Amino acid sequence: MQKRTISISFDEYTSLEELNSQDQILCLEAKKAMSNSHSPYSGFRVGVAVQLESGRIVYGSNQENVAYPSGLCAERVALFMIGTTYPDDKIISMAITAQTDHFLIKEPVTSCGACLQVMAEYEKKQSYPINVMFYCLNGAIIRTSGIKSLLPFAFEETRLQK
Ligand code: THU
Repeated sequence: MQKRTISISFDEYTSLEELNSQDQILCLEAKKAMSNSHSPYSGFRVGVAVQLESGRIVYGSNQENVAYPSGLCAERVALFMIGTTYPDDKIISMAITAQTDHFLIKEPVTSCGACLQVMAEYEKKQSYPINVMFYCLNGAIIRTSGIKSLLPFAFEETRLQK
């Protein structure tokens, strides 16, 4: 047996002002995107803003359904929209934020594994790293350059090769 270690790196900020202006704007756009969240079942609103190379910003919010598994996370709503509508416009950065009716969120909320896997797919497709920011409304931000830091064991295409 051999113990192996993978180390990941990320940047931590305590306030929006520490980010460059483009990233600040993206975080604030993610906050706006929460207003279209359809989350009557969880009371947990997630907003996403994605910056494309063309300058366009695409939005996503979680869309729940009374048949629970039919709903979708905010990140995948935005990414699938980009995949279908702007497939050749590179994804530069995405900002994600969340709010709940039940308590005050004090730390950045990170994405679920399924959303990370989808981010990994689009990063691979465009051969260009996607910057991800998890923005807490109290100001704290976690930022990674590329999905590898978030999902080092992503399922990859090489596993499918015969
Ligand atoms: N949710 C997201 O939108 N993104 C995630 O990465 C995790 C969870 C949504 C799904 C559901 O509508 C609510 O948050 C509670 O799980």
